[in-house]
Formats: sequence, structure tokens, C-alpha cells
Amino acid sequence: MSKIKLLNIVGARPQIIKASAISRAIRLHFSDVIDESLVHTGQHYDKELSDVFFDELEIHKPDFNLGVGSAIHGRQTAMMISGIEEVLLDQKPDCVLLYGDTNSTLAGAVAASKLHFPLMHIEAGLRSFNKTMPEELNRIFSDHSSTLLFAPTNAAFKNLMTEGFRPENSPPYTIDNPKIYLTGDIMYDNSLFFAELAEKKKAGLHEKLQIERERFILVTIHRDINTDDFSRLETILTTLKSLAEENSIPLVMPFHPRTINALKANLKSLYDELKNSVFIRLIPPVSYLEMTLLEKTSSLIITDSGGVQKESHFFRKPCIVLRKETEWIELVINGTVKLADANPVLIRKSFNGFLHSDTEFEYPGFYGDGKTAEFILKEILFFMGKDIM
Ligand code: UD1
Ligand code: UDP
Repeated sequence: MSKIKLLNIVGARPQIIKASAISRAIRLHFSDVIDESLVHTGQHYDKELSDVFFDELEIHKPDFNLGVGSAIHGRQTAMMISGIEEVLLDQKPDCVLLYGDTNSTLAGAVAASKLHFPLMHIEAGLRSFNKTMPEELNRIFSDHSSTLLFAPTNAAFKNLMTEGFRPENSPPYTIDNPKIYLTGDIMYDNSLFFAELAEKKKAGLHEKLQIERERFILVTIHRDINTDDFSRLETILTTLKSLAEENSIPLVMPFHPRTINALKANLKSLYDELKNSVFIRLIPPVSYLEMTLLEKTSSLIITDSGGVQKESHFFRKPCIVLRKETEWIELVINGTVKLADANPVLIRKSFNGFLHSDTEFEYPGFYGDGKTAEFILKEILFFMGKDIM
């Protein structure tokens, strides 16, 4: 049986992590029928945002690195489209796999759909209903140019139906007759797979950071709304610093370079205060295994990240989200995620609530059975006429 040629397109940290779930499932179950290759757009290029994940998660190494780097949206996306186009014309894959909602996702969607390569979108249907968010525009275009759409949650699946996608469509599937699936979340596959390994491989992490298990708070910030609006960033960080001091609890902050750059350039004295505070561990981004261990052993998570907010649920931790809205709305309805925006009153109320009073929560299984990557690959094979079920 000839193998199908599947081309992954990634560029940013969370996409490399997501692609590792697919790569692992191919290696374990489908290596005789699927030949995967991978384009890295180069959107993330620092070692701690890219190489570290290829090394640690044993993902298929990039066959093509476009080396695009950082730039304003249009220029960055255009360079990616052009590079991806060349790879597509040269490689002629049977299908193209896209992850999430970054500019690398959008570029893959534009390049592949215009050249008529079938697109499969993992994390389809998520919506914030806020089109000033760059990711929201990326999501909409990527979904509407895909042939197979893999929605991770009920809410995402419903969003697709609201936009006119029909679950009853029957094969042959095309860009004009797409198929939508409710799949679960491949990030849950990863968290289940790596949680124990993280304990073994990163055993000295707490000691290194001078923190105790279940007695620290994990904070990440990287979204443009928070990094590029200095008054928001200042409000969030001064509020968190005061809360850490009042409660004598350490905050571990593995910050994206974008956030560190914004602090150094515009809020230097706050940056110095954070660096010198006994309660703050302001550190570079950590590896996935380190992050997994930190999430698993924290007492509370505070973030503006989509991925980290879901991982809080996987590890049964309450979470404060530093945004007005979220795509993972089931977590808010569940009460374990509170949307605090950059509002000091809301941040304070949620922080004290989660730390001191609201401590008993349910964490229902919103995100599948941990075998989402396998399910997705079976459906891709079925689409390609290789029904191995
Ligand atoms: C991107 C995605 C966002 C995702 C995030 C994951 C878009 C529009 N945004 O945001 O959806 O949540 O990745 O982390 O695609 N930088 C470095 N080193 C790097 C990469 C970036 O220092 O390796 C700095 C540069 O100053 C750059 C800035 O970070 O200008 C922003 O990078 P960019 O890739 O444009 O967006 P992210 O904020 O990383
Ligand atoms: N992550 C990591 N190290 C860090 C911060 C995040 O490994 O220092 C992982 C995190 O566990 C999750 C993913 O990166 O799996 C989330 O990516 P990010 O927050 O950059 O983007 P988003 O999910 O918001 O698009």
C-alpha cells in the first residue's frame, strides 16, 4: 500500500507542541501508511520557543525551515505564504495539516487552499467573538478554507454549525463540502502522555526555583493586548506583585520574550522590582516538561494563554485568565476559570477566592479521551480512501 504524504505546518511554540501529538500517533500506529513531513515557518526562532520542543517531545524535525522570523502581520504572513507555496509545489503532499490560529496557520491556509491542496484544521471552530484579536481572523479564514475540520469542544463544534458548516455532509469531502468532527483536544493527549515523565525528568525543578509543591502560583503573559498596552501590563503586574507579598506566596513567571522586551523597554523600574522581589521568579520560557511539572504542582494558574488555561483544567487547578473573553468557554461556565481582564478588583477577588475560599471544584472531561490524535489520523486516512478502521 502506498503511503499518504501529510505535510504539517507549524511556526509558533504551541503548534510544535500540538504537532508532537500527531507525530507520536503516526510513529506508534500509522507509520506504515502515513509519511509525514514538516514545514517550520520560523515564526518562533529562539531556542526556548522552538528547538527545545523538538528535542524534548521527539517530534519529527523540520524538513523545511522558512526562517521568516518576526515582522508586522502582513509582511510576516506574506513571507510565510510565499515560502509555503514553494514547498507545496515541490512536495505535492496529499493533504496539509494546520494547527491552531497563529499567522503560520493563516499562511498555510492561504497557500494550500489557493493551490487546491486539501486542508485539515486541528482546533477548528474556536471563537472569541473579538475580531480585533489577530488569532480570530486567522481562525475564521483557516476554518473556511479547510476540508476536514477537527473541533476540540462542543462549543467549537456549535460555532462551526452557526457559521453554516453541516455535520450531515457526506463524502466526497471538499473545500465546498467540508466535514466537521467533534474530536477532543490533542493537547490533552500530550498532558496525559508527559505528566509522569515530567516528574521523573525534571525532579530538581522546585529546588532550583526555590519553591514548594502546591505552594506557588504559575503566571504566563504573552498576548499583544497585555504586552503592547503598557498600562495594562503595569496594572496586572503591580496587582500580582502586591498579592504575592500580602499572601507570602511565590509567583513563578516564565515569560515570553515579547513580555520581557516590553517590560525592559517601557517599564524598566517595574522590571527591576520584579527581578529583585523575594516572591517573584521572573524567568525565561521553560520547556514543555518543566511547564507541565509547574502546572501539575502549582496551587493556582494565572495566564492569558489559551493552551495554559486548558492545561490548568487537565491538572485540576483553578485559573485566572487575564482577558475579557475566552474561546474555552466551558471552563468559565464550570467556574474553574475566572475572566479577570486587567482589572485589579477582579484579579484580586479571583485570586483571594481561589486561594482561600473556593477550593473544591469538579473538573469534568471536556477534552476527550487522550486519543484525539489517533482519531484525527484515522479520519484523514478514511478521507484519503485508506479505511483502516
Ligand atoms: C504568536 C501567535 C499567538 C500565540 C503565540 C504563542 C500570531 C499572530 N500570534 O504570538 O497566537 O499565542 O505565538 O506563543 O501568530 N519573539 C522573540 N523570539 C521569538 C519569537 C518572537 O523574541 O522566537 C518576539 C519578537 O519581538 C516578536 C514578538 O515576540 O516581535 C512577537 O512574536 P510573534 O510571533 O509575532 O507573536 P507571538 O506574540 O509570539
Ligand atoms: N509553554 C511552555 N513553556 C512556557 C510557556 C508555555 O512549554 O514557558 C507551553 C504550555 O504548556 C502550552 C503552550 O506552551 O502547552 C501554550 O503556548 P502559548 O501560551 O505560547 O500560546 P497559546 O496557547 O496562547 O496560543
